[in-house]
Amino acid sequence: MSSSKVLPDLNQFTKSDIYSLFEIADKIQRQKLDFQDNKLISVALLFFESSTRTKASFQMAIRHLGLKILNFDPAKSSISKGESLIDTCKVIEALGAKAIVLRHSLLGISSKLSSSVNIPILNAGEGKASHPTQALSDVYTIWKNKGQLKEEKLLIVGDVFHSRVARSHFTLLPKLGIEVAVCGPSTLVPSVIEKKGIPIFRNLDEGLEWASVVMALRNQIERQHSFLVPNQREFSERFGLNGRRLEKFNKTGLIMHPMPLNLGVEISEEVLKDPRNIILDQVKNGVFVRAALLAKILELSL
Ligand code: CP
Repeated sequence: MSSSKVLPDLNQFTKSDIYSLFEIADKIQRQKLDFQDNKLISVALLFFESSTRTKASFQMAIRHLGLKILNFDPAKSSISKGESLIDTCKVIEALGAKAIVLRHSLLGISSKLSSSVNIPILNAGEGKASHPTQALSDVYTIWKNKGQLKEEKLLIVGDVFHSRVARSHFTLLPKLGIEVAVCGPSTLVPSVIEKKGIPIFRNLDEGLEWASVVMALRNQIERQHSFLVPNQREFSERFGLNGRRLEKFNKTGLIMHPMPLNLGVEISEEVLKDPRNIILDQVKNGVFVRAALLAKILELSL
């Protein structure tokens, strides 16, 4: 019988769990901790979808903790000979890995695998459904920049429909007292979102007046059919973040994007030079949030 879990489960996270994680991340980030004793512990990275940040961030987090990486290339693995993912995970467990970091397009795959192995599965992005470590990294970044969270108002702009990051934020933010609203055309921000209690702005300038933090999302062009967005230029004119638009945005506001970004579509080059832009902080902080998660899950002493 398996005792494995899919982590982090944001539905189960309490406010104090989240702040405790942030304190650990902050400690790892600030102090040079000695993790010599961890060098016999391996973590496997299984990425079945492309990734730059999340994969590299987990790699860096694993190194920060003195752990070893069990790298896995799906295309060159025995999956290409027909081995199932369940058997692959059982083999990885038998080889001695203490956790599996999984990115996959299939909804529910992490949960299915967790019932076949006894080591935790860390969700590094699953389909359109969830990307909890990105959401935690984003909120940690707001916390580090603002020093508090409860008065913040986050506006998520753009392709919410295809965004696993947005879905994880909808679960995470209310636990911390952060207000969230979305902005975009009805094809990418369907009205049904309002039924979850999340306000929708169809006018970006009005949304920016309301927000203290704005997060643009990548227009997932590869998943959009032509009828969803007439063209990228029109999208950019109505919903793109640019210098002119941000002149009226809160002077102490923050500008975020989980990346990768389409420059000139959802965000313009001048926005990247804006001092309120903390996009690369999100990347940097993701290492420490993922390290903190691994430290908690693997019960490492800090
Ligand atoms: N933000 C994010 O998940 O980026 P990658 O797809 O590069 O990991």
